Amino acid sequence: MQIIKEKATLTEVISKLKFEDSSVGFVPTMGALHDGHLSLVRQAAAVCDVVVVSVFINPTQFDNAEDLDNYPRTLDSDTQKLAELNLNLIIFTPTAAELYNDKVISEHFQFDGLEYEMEGKYRNGHFDGVGTVVKKLFEIVKPDKAFFGEKDYQQLQIIKKLVQHHDLPVEVIGCPIYRESNGLARSSRNERLSTEIRNKASFIHETLLKAKNKFGIESVNQITNWVENEFKANPYFKLEYFEIADSETLKPISNKIINQKVRAFIAVYSEDIRLIDNIALNY
Ligand code: PAJ
Repeated sequence: MQIIKEKATLTEVISKLKFEDSSVGFVPTMGALHDGHLSLVRQAAAVCDVVVVSVFINPTQFDNAEDLDNYPRTLDSDTQKLAELNLNLIIFTPTAAELYNDKVISEHFQFDGLEYEMEGKYRNGHFDGVGTVVKKLFEIVKPDKAFFGEKDYQQLQIIKKLVQHHDLPVEVIGCPIYRESNGLARSSRNERLSTEIRNKASFIHETLLKAKNKFGIESVNQITNWVENEFKANPYFKLEYFEIADSETLKPISNKIINQKVRAFIAVYSEDIRLIDNIALNY
């Protein structure tokens, strides 16, 4: 396993791999690695000769300086977790000055409206920051395949759009949500929950599963009202949004579903920590 901090060094290593005809997989992360991230790395290594894992806390995707300051920085334990996988990995961990050439600013993108839905309404400039950094990383890593978690489903769709709009020669692969044993989607934020709330947070996935069971029997409005009432009755979790939407356009759906893949999306607060999750409803 190699650890690389400079773009020029990575470019050299990647050129050599391409010359040898090795396939390059890529898993971009912001570190604080957990089993969800590692599941992506394993999936990448199963189909690529070498996997680049970037560990870079991207300043341009935070709309709040405090969030950026508080983001966990755990490079030593991240490196150890990756080494323990015993896979053919390269860790790319540039500084912001190195990656952004000293100009830490976002490009502005349009993602055919994906950026205005759900997370886009609550996290100002977030997807411009994600698009900026992922485009830069793709240009340096030149991956054949890049792996993103369905945990951040909207981000996954936005990256697919980025690749399509800019004709980037990379295949974007969505990977299933890795869950804790009680169903809670794995996230570095889970560590900040009290044990009591972390145990109770199975409620989020359970509610999504019940919504899935109702889908096709009850109307979208009925299901949405039911979820809202479930959260009103639960003193531990505050619902930010619950939406049933088309899995590609992410637009809310009406009751007429014709050849559409549909998902439910949720964002919830507990103990000042924001948790997101989603589930496929009809596929
Ligand atoms: P980060 O939050 O570190 O997540 C890195 C990748 O891990 C993302 O593709 C995310 O969807 C995936 N992931 C996180 N938790 C997961 C889980 N429980 N199951 C499956 N996949 C999971 O997402 C980012 O970083 C950044 O926005 C980034 C793309 C790196 C750009 O800065």
